Amino acid sequence: MNSLDQFTTNWWLSVATDDAKLRKWLQKLQKTEIGGYYDHYNFMALHPEMDDRTKTILINIADDEAKHSNMIVGVLSKRGWFTDMSAPDSTYWDDLLKHVVTIEDYCAANYYGEALAAYRFQKILECDVTPKDIRTLIEKVLPDEVFHRETLQRLAGPDALEKFRVLNDQATKKLLDTKAAVRAYYEP
Ligand SMILES: [Fe+2]
Ligand SMILES: [Fe+2]
Repeated sequence: MNSLDQFTTNWWLSVATDDAKLRKWLQKLQKTEIGGYYDHYNFMALHPEMDDRTKTILINIADDEAKHSNMIVGVLSKRGWFTDMSAPDSTYWDDLLKHVVTIEDYCAANYYGEALAAYRFQKILECDVTPKDIRTLIEKVLPDEVFHRETLQRLAGPDALEKFRVLNDQATKKLLDTKAAVRAYYEP
């Protein structure tokens, strides 16, 4: 197990076994999913030169994120919990998005974000302590995130992927090195 695997598994063990942390994590995940929906539509509005193929794909991804958000709202409400849009944004995400200039950059940044989301969801499914409702949710969401990851990788192209690989490595390293960043991204 590498250090990110170990870190992620330990993080999830602490979240999955503590209702207050689990609630905050779900609330933050819901905020991220609906935020992705708005980000994609806002980015398309800012780039009217975007070709139709890319636009169609971003619309499909955005609509999936809205669907994920609705599914999480369902899980929250079955537990008697509410949404919370006041949760802090992730520092990882801010670190990547501030370097976006082109449409390819945007796809590359989102590729790494989707890859990290898919990775974490995979680790959650591998964990025995994952509650049943969360497992059912993640089993439905993970295939979409994998599809987003692969589609965005193709749209980004090699140059933007390389630019954001470096930024992703730095942001991920910060995540592991800095307690504050870890708190901002990983902890609920
Ligand atoms: Fe999603
Ligand atoms: Fe996604």
